[in-house]
Formats: sequence, structure tokens, C-alpha cells
Amino acid sequence: MTIVIFGGAGDLAQRKLLPALYNLHVDGLLPPTWAIVGTGRKDLTDDGYRQFARDGIERHSRRPIDAATWAQFASGLFFVNIDIAEPAGGRPLASLGARLDIIEHERGEPGDRIYYLAVPPSLFIPVVQQLAAARFVAPSPGAGAPYARLVVEKPIGHDLHSALAITDAVAAVFDERQVFRIDHYLGKETVQNILVLRFANSIFEPLFNQKYVDHVQITVAEQDGVGTRAGYYDGAGALRDMVQNHLLQLLTLVAMEPPHALTADVVRDEKLQVLQALRPIAGSTVDGCTVRGRYAGGRVGDRAVAGYLAEPGVAPDSRTETFVALNVRVDNWRWAGVPFYLRTGKRLPRRSSEISVHLKAVPPILFNAPPDAPLGRCVHESSPALAANVLAIRLQPDDGFSFFISSKIPGPQVRVTTVEMDFDYSTAFGAASPEAYERLLLDVMAGDATLFMRRDSVEASWRFVTPILDRWAEQSAPLPEYAAGTWGPAASDDLLQRSGRSWRNP
Ligand code: BG6
Repeated sequence: MTIVIFGGAGDLAQRKLLPALYNLHVDGLLPPTWAIVGTGRKDLTDDGYRQFARDGIERHSRRPIDAATWAQFASGLFFVNIDIAEPAGGRPLASLGARLDIIEHERGEPGDRIYYLAVPPSLFIPVVQQLAAARFVAPSPGAGAPYARLVVEKPIGHDLHSALAITDAVAAVFDERQVFRIDHYLGKETVQNILVLRFANSIFEPLFNQKYVDHVQITVAEQDGVGTRAGYYDGAGALRDMVQNHLLQLLTLVAMEPPHALTADVVRDEKLQVLQALRPIAGSTVDGCTVRGRYAGGRVGDRAVAGYLAEPGVAPDSRTETFVALNVRVDNWRWAGVPFYLRTGKRLPRRSSEISVHLKAVPPILFNAPPDAPLGRCVHESSPALAANVLAIRLQPDDGFSFFISSKIPGPQVRVTTVEMDFDYSTAFGAASPEAYERLLLDVMAGDATLFMRRDSVEASWRFVTPILDRWAEQSAPLPEYAAGTWGPAASDDLLQRSGRSWRNP
């Protein structure tokens, strides 16, 4: 196959895609004949592109470059200079088409192609339309004909309306089975393990419902600030950047019903059901169920760091949130009444993503009965705290999970404390897991869309998130701030404390 990367000389290609493809090559997982063709406005030769790729791989690959393997890999890299935004009536893909034909002919490739959109979203529709205009995509390829697949990076839209415009434009050219919408969280080993944990262990699955679960927390904490990405991020914010995709996808994996097969559509049907069951947060409900904030200057570790408004490229009057917390409900039989608390932010104390399932407390009868429970009283007013069981699934770093349970402290008295049973990936399995992009690119080549977002699920996520954005857009009060290096604004703690709960800070 040939993978054509639109935005091939961009940041994503250099940091993620080319290192992932290099590692797949090292593992012998690329098909027997392949080529990688970067395209973009930069004036690069093939050799210039190889150097660009090498720089990225040296800095970001999980494995170091080996001279012989690199030479082989580099010989499959090419660059074609095109400007998708060239004046109307132009044929920006003409030179690309001619070059691809030559490369495929020389390398003996059958013509299978993957078009990867690693470009800003404003170019999604123009690229797809140009692919159609240049006849790169057969309207209905017959069996055995070379395939054409499209990989789309987020953000897919800015709100429901713009997401629909993109998905419609894509659907006008590609069949849904040809489209692979990336959410790189779904490529993470630990995220894939959620389904195994739930459905391959009879100890856990019976507990995942409103009878046993008090609430669920999903935290995706980042220590980094916005860095050099303000150009994109300042127009997006944490809700669009992280919740609409990554956090809602994590929620679907925790909450979905068991699929009857592990095939792409069966799994995605079940995930969609969860998104469709989300209780809408709209109008004044937004004020009680959501918290947003923006980092001010502070300290992260032993470094002093600037506040968001002082970051390069951020508008001085920006109202973009860098932190968001939500109280979400899944209104179905399994999860009725169980809050799902979602939280993500930049410049939090550490990089740490975790899903914790908090089970209901045991009744206040034995070990946590009031010590002086008098006979004849019908109400126990307070009982000593006995921590409820928690299953904490660590997505990154220190991938693994812990189960917190109660145990007797050795000694003559009955005193109970919480102990931790721990599973750690690196201890159990040794070698570092492949990067998410390795797994996802491999799946695109294999035509397996299980770990990709289907059109209806992208739309359902935007349908949930857009009314929150609308409400926020109407508000003009100053955005709450939190000091960099803390766990977000105070209102985030209040969101849970109102019901007597608190965040587990991983
Ligand atoms: C991206 C967001 O999708 O995910 C970034 O655009 C964020 O803002 C990143 O930093 C986090 O990914 P990871 O894999 O580092 O947790």
C-alpha cells in the first residue's frame, strides 16, 4: 500500500506518524510492498523529507534508529509539493497522481492507498473534494480492486453543525467502511484492556451497574501547558479538545453493554447506545453540572510556569477553558442514578489518566457500626468511615490497575484499613507497549475499524457537547482561574462535595 500523508511535513507526521510507521517497519508489520508519500506546501525533496523523518524518529521513536533498517525504511519515503488551497479551478492533485503512479509502478504495488488527513480541519473538505475531482477514489470499487481508505484526525468540527458539514462531505466521496476517524486514546493498550477487564473477568462485570457502583470518575490530567499549539487550542478549549472525543470514548467503554461480537460495527453499536443515553446538559443545567477554568501562573514540580494568557499565541481577551469537569448521567437501566464525573485539564500537578469505579459502601452494621449503637434507636446517626472499594484503572503513566479493598490490621483488636492489590503492565509483561499510532495505523492497513469512531458516534458526541458550549458562549463572567500545578478551580471539588464525594487525585 501507499500511505499519502496530507500535512506530511507537519508536527503530527514528525512526532507520531513517521515514528509509528518506522516501528511497524522494524517489527516487519508493513505489507510486503509499501511507500509513504508526504505532501504539503513545504518545498522539500525526497532526501529533504527523509531527513525530516529521521529527525522525528530520532526524537520520538520508542526504539532507536538502526542504520540498516533506516536505510531500507528511508528508501520508501517520498515527498510531493502541493498546495491544496490553490486557486479554484486548479488541479492541485495532478502532480501527486502522476508521482504516485510512478512510485507504485516502480515498487510493484497494486495501488492500495491510504489518504491520511494530518492537516488543519479547514482543509478536510477541500482535500476530500480534490480526491474525488482527481478520481483518486472509485465510487464503488469492485471486489479485488485496490482499496482507497481515508484517515481523519480530530478535530472533526467545532460544533455539531460543522461536524455534520465534514461528515457529509466525506460521505459524498467515501463509503463509511473506507473511513477511519482517529481517536488516539482508543489505540492505547490500557484503553483496549478496559473491555478485557470487564468482559474477561467474572469478578468485575457483575459489579458494573447501579446496584453496586456509587459513582465513576474519569480523570485525564496533563502537566504540560498549551505549549506551541495555541493557534489551534485557543479556538478549541478543553471541552472540544479532550471531552468531546477522548473522555466520552473512555466513558462508553466503561458503561457499554457487552457486545455480542468483537467486530467493528457490533462494538461501535454498543458504544453509540451509551452516547445516546447521555442525559442532555443544556440551558441552566449547564451551570450546575459543569465547571470550567483557566490556568494562572504557578509551579509545576520545581518549575515556575506562566499562566495561559501569557502563553505565546493566546489572544489577550481569550475565554478558552484549559480545565473542565462534568457531572454526567447515563440514563439507562444499568446506570440509572450513578454519576460519572469527568475531568481534564492542562497544567495540573502531574500527567496522569485514570478511571476509577467507586463501589457502594457496605452497610453500617459490623466494622463500621457506631461503637455505641444503642438498642432501641432506629437511626444510626454516624458511623466510622469505612472506605468503599475502588477499582482504579491507570491509563498512563504506570499503566495497570489497582483494587482497593478493606483488610484487618494485624493485632488483637478488629481494626480495618484499606489495602491495595496492584497490577502493573511493565512488571507483568516487561517490554514497553507499542504506541497508539502503531496499533491504529496497522488496523487501517488491515481494514479493521473497531478502534475508530463511526460517523454516528462523532455526531452523538457533538450533540451532547454543543449545548454546553452554547451556554458558555452566552456567559460573560470572568473565567475561574486555578494556579498551575493544582487540581483545577475550587468549583471542581464542589461539584462532588455537594453529594458528599471527592475526587481521587491520582
Ligand atoms: C490530544 C489533544 O488529542 O491529546 C492534546 O489535542 C492533548 O491537547 C493530547 O495534549 C493528550 O494525549 P496523550 O496521549 O498525551 O494523553
